[in-house]
Amino acid sequence: MAATEAQSKLAHVLPLGSRIDARGHLEVGGCDTVALAREFGTPAYVYAEDDLRSRARAYVEAMRVRCDAAGHAFDVLFASKAFPCTAAYRLFAAEGIACDVASGGELALALRGGFDPARIYLHGNAKSLAELREALDAGVGHVVLDSFDDVERLERVAAERGTRQAVLIRVTPGVAGRTHASISTGQADSKFGFGMDDARRAIERVRACDHLELQGLHMHIGSQLLSLDAYRPAVEAIATLGDFPVYNLGGGLGIAYTAEQQPPSIEEYVDVQVRAVTELVGSGKRLLIEPGRSLVANACVTLYTVQTVKRNVSTWVGVDGGMSDNLRPMLYGSLYEALLADRADRVGEGERCHVTGKHCESGDVIVHDVPLDDPRPGDVLVTPATGAYGHAMANNYNGIPRPPVIFCKDGDARVVVRRETYDDLAARDVD
Ligand SMILES: Cc1ncc(COP(=O)(O)O)c(C=O)c1O
Repeated sequence: MAATEAQSKLAHVLPLGSRIDARGHLEVGGCDTVALAREFGTPAYVYAEDDLRSRARAYVEAMRVRCDAAGHAFDVLFASKAFPCTAAYRLFAAEGIACDVASGGELALALRGGFDPARIYLHGNAKSLAELREALDAGVGHVVLDSFDDVERLERVAAERGTRQAVLIRVTPGVAGRTHASISTGQADSKFGFGMDDARRAIERVRACDHLELQGLHMHIGSQLLSLDAYRPAVEAIATLGDFPVYNLGGGLGIAYTAEQQPPSIEEYVDVQVRAVTELVGSGKRLLIEPGRSLVANACVTLYTVQTVKRNVSTWVGVDGGMSDNLRPMLYGSLYEALLADRADRVGEGERCHVTGKHCESGDVIVHDVPLDDPRPGDVLVTPATGAYGHAMANNYNGIPRPPVIFCKDGDARVVVRRETYDDLAARDVD
């Protein structure tokens, strides 16, 4: 396949600005991925910095145009669970967007990355007393209440401090987006948020609290949604709960992991959300959205080195990472593409292979049934679209040090998270 053809087949899966050079090498952020593997080792997460910035700007611009037209104020929140590291927080804080965190640990990272606490939203279906105290002491702008226990506990923590804390109530509207069960969150029977009946009681309860100020509602109906159909019915449901100044519509926009997947655009997603609130609730609101995956996933590729090629009934290409750096295929059966970094112009050619990790489980398969052009030990193998929930879910199974995160821009590469060492593996062992 010619370089341009290969490039266009995967253009929407690879980071913006990626290209295949005259030698057939894949370039990300202006850097040759073969050279990056040599310099930084593998596995490694490689992000194109411009891609992260450009998607943040696209969200802000899409919201600006539509919210201005409908008389809404707005904010875009980086759902930081998708990619929690200091450099990412710093980059998005510099882009001027807000941030949501799902734990005290993410809060600490967001503060370290320079986020104004007033622009941080704390989530969590099982927040601890300690996390609520940390959030209020830091001065977070909003806490998103998820249960009656949360309401009682936060009221107590705010009373202790003599403050009044702005809150949103998370509602599960009884509308589920079409996605994997593990990342579907809008259905009535969910561990997240209040069901519709409980939401009515929670609104009353919070309004009666002296130290909580109810500003509005939150919903997040699921993740990796490749259809936008569920958003309007979900807004229709929460519109029955009353009229509030703030509506946080969550994240969820799906992305292309494979060449065949064609997700809606950021503009289409924002259009559906803003239109739904404007038509079903009214104008003059403050609208928030919380994209995670669609901000960061396609900005990154993972580089591996092929260690072994085994021809059984199938061809098994074993690489130097796996379920310790990308759990998603094992958790959700997620699909990925794979290509060889120095033969990127031959995408789609060659024998069909399974790309496996090095972990002690048969389920440790990163990509099933993908054509690779004569894979050999030593080849650098690339899996695109690993920027969300990859680094975030990385682990040390089998004593594998977690990979570095490299940011690339205009041909320069810098390490923003270093590779773990064997000493790191024992760093918490006290005996
Ligand atoms: C409350 C909340 N907001 C936003 C997100 C981000 O979702 P996504 O990464 O699908 O955009 C999630 C993901 O789990 C979430 O739970």
